[in-house]
This record gives sequence, C-alpha cells and structure tokens, in this order.
Amino acid sequence: MLIEHKRIKLEQGKFLEVTGPAAVRLVSGEAVLMGKRLSDRDVVIVPQWRTYAFKALRDSELDVSVTKETVVKVADYNVAEEWERGLSEVVGLKRVVIAGPTDSGKSSVTATLVNLNLNENYEVSVLDSDVGQSNLCYPTMVCKARVKDYVFTLSDLEAEEHRFTGTITPSVERGRVVSSVASLARGRVVVDTDGWVDGYEAGCYKQELLRAVSPDAVVYLGKAPWWARGPWKLVELPPSTGKERSRQDRRSIRKNKYRKALEGCKSKDIDLNEVQPLFSVIFNSPWGDEALKESVRELIGVKPLIVIPWGTKVIAVVKKGSKYKKVKDVEVIEEGEERGLLVGLGDKRGNETLGEVIKIDYLSKIMKVKTCFKGRPEYVAFGRVKLSEDFSDKIYKKPF
Ligand SMILES: Nc1ncnc2c1ncn2[C@@H]1O[C@H](COP(=O)(O)OP(=O)(O)OP(=O)(O)O)[C@@H](O)[C@H]1O
Ligand SMILES: [Mg+2]
Repeated sequence: MLIEHKRIKLEQGKFLEVTGPAAVRLVSGEAVLMGKRLSDRDVVIVPQWRTYAFKALRDSELDVSVTKETVVKVADYNVAEEWERGLSEVVGLKRVVIAGPTDSGKSSVTATLVNLNLNENYEVSVLDSDVGQSNLCYPTMVCKARVKDYVFTLSDLEAEEHRFTGTITPSVERGRVVSSVASLARGRVVVDTDGWVDGYEAGCYKQELLRAVSPDAVVYLGKAPWWARGPWKLVELPPSTGKERSRQDRRSIRKNKYRKALEGCKSKDIDLNEVQPLFSVIFNSPWGDEALKESVRELIGVKPLIVIPWGTKVIAVVKKGSKYKKVKDVEVIEEGEERGLLVGLGDKRGNETLGEVIKIDYLSKIMKVKTCFKGRPEYVAFGRVKLSEDFSDKIYKKPF
C-alpha cells in the first residue's frame, strides 16, 4: 500500500471530506469532526469505504496520509453542518432513536450525538438494533455499549450487553427484536436502527420498536414517514450522500462477522433436559406417543424418531437419508438438518452469546454447539438462521 502525505489548507467554514483509508491530523487552527473538537494530538483513522467531514472553525492546516484509494475533497458545504445544529436540540435527552433509510447516515449521526453528549459530560450508551448489519456486535444480535471516549465509527465500541434475536431481518421475528431492544433501552442511550423504513409492515415494526423504547426524541434522516410521529420530539435531518453498500457487500460483511464470532470456538455438549430451551417448538412440546408415530408412519411411509403436535400440523424427525412421502400437514425434519442453526446461549444476567448447532441427538436431547460461551449456559434460545460451511447465512423456515 503506497502512502503519501499531503498538507491541506482549509479556510474557516469549509469542509475537508476524506474517504478512507486515510489518517488525518490537525496541524494548526481549529477543526471539528462529528461534534468533537480536534487537538493536535488526535490522529484520526478514516476506515476504508467511510467518509469523514472535517470542518474548519478557523483557518486550519491538516496533514492527510493517503493511499491510492483515498479520496480527499474540499467543500463549501456538508450535511454535517446541519446534523450538528439539529442534534444540539436533543443533547442530554435520555432516549433518542436515530432512524432513516439504508446508507442515509444513521450510524454517523449516532456517533455525532454521542460526541455532543460527551462534550456536555453526559454519560451515554449506544444501542444497535440493526440485526442484519450491527456495528456493535454479530449479525442476529442486538447490543449495547457504554461509551468511554469520543467515537467516529461505531464498530470501535465494545458492547457489554448482548441479546440474540435469532434473525437477520426484523420482518421475520419482529417481537424478538423489539423485546431485545426493550430490555436494553435503559439509561441515557442513543438507539441506532436498521434501514427498513418503507411500506406498511416496516412502519408497524418501527412503531412497535418506538413504543418499546419510549424515546424522548426521534431523529429521522430524510422526510419523516407517518410512523416516526408520536409523543416525542421529532427532528428531521438531511440524509448523507455517502457511498452505498450493495446487498452483496452486506452479505460478505455478515460472513466475516460470523467467522469472527465462531472460528476458533470449542464445541460444547448441552443437555436440553437441564438447560432451558427458549423459542423452540420441538423441545418445549410434549413428544407424541407411539399411536401418533404409527399414524405418521402411515402417512409418510417411514417411522419417525419423534413426533410433536404443532398447531394443526405435526413435526416428525426422521433418520438421515430416510425415504419419506411429503404430505401436507406433516413437517419432516431429517436428523442432521439442524447443522448450522444459530442459537444464543444465555447467562444468569440474560447476556447471550452466539452459538452454531453441530448436531442434536433428538432422543437423548443432547445438543452439540460450537460457541465461545464460557461455563454452563442457563438457557439456549433457538434462532431462524442457518449457516453453511463458508459462513453464508439463510433464513431457515422449519420449526425449531
Ligand atoms: N458528513 C458526511 N459526508 C459525506 N459522507 C458521509 C458523511 N457522514 C457519513 N457519510 C458516509 O455515508 C455513508 C452512510 O453512512 P452511515 O454508515 O453512517 O449510514 P447508515 O444509515 O448507518 O448506513 P447503514 O444503513 O448501512 O447502517 C457512509 O459511507 C459514510 O461514510
Ligand atoms: Mg448504520
């Protein structure tokens, strides 16, 4: 990576927009980045793909270390100007939700509001409710981090509280995402959200989320839709004009995160007779008797290991490789099909750690899970996402 150094003069009131990778240092004058006044001791690392906008409060000079990919631009105007002005109305408030479409600047606005709170000596936490592209933790999780110092990129924060929602999109498990967020929305907190904002379903989900958080203010990046209104202050800010991430980018970001969460973890035997299974149809239902097994055998042509009545349907677990007929009201799960299913292992305080199912012995109810959870979990929450060998994920439709 070729690195070159540039010294840039920035007139008072102008912006230096730097798209990373780059390192920036203030040499003289006065400048601000996302609400933080820079000192000459700060070396700001601009990550790849991200754009930071430095504003000169006086005539200033900045040193920028650049690579071939870095883009540096001096501009008369940047949205950061309006963001800081708008956010000054909500500094110090207890719960503030930041919402808007994907790539509209939610996470950058969250960081800016955090920094403005630190300027006033307020203690503040960040709660990331985006289960698909969390900055604070792994996909399927909702996490909270207490902020100890100024922050520009939320992934630099370290989350202390984790909840497993079992999904990478709130549309599949709205209640689980909402209740996870609700359990963490305490103290002074800035809540970053996902970009699912259009349509009736999205609106209903966001209304549920807002009701659970009960915010003092909602900040919307763009023109606020109907669901953003309520008994709270509403601040509309212009969206950023930054680079968009494609579906493919998002998928590969998730893959890397799963790898980080699970690679190198050990396998753990969990006895589901002793450890409470949550959100599991199979392990929380009375298992069917011989008569039911026999009637399912007549329907599908093979005798299942276990059968579980499930609403108007029946779940049947069969031996791997069994030849069975597909029939309407019997949901068949082959032994081994559970491999890759994500679960959350909970401790006494309700903190949850990601795990990946290796194998379930349905008869003994012993489950082998790959996880970095230490000790014996209090409970296991089953999810709806399955990973393949290469860590790509898929929503799993069958009941667990
Ligand atoms: N002041 C700014 N000027 C120009 N670009 C910016 C500015 N602030 C942020 N950006 C860029 O805009 C893009 C989106 O920003 P950000 O990640 O904060 O948005 P988001 O709404 O949280 O996105 P996501 O939906 O992926 O969570 C990023 O590439 C970011 O670097
Ligand atoms: Mg974001």
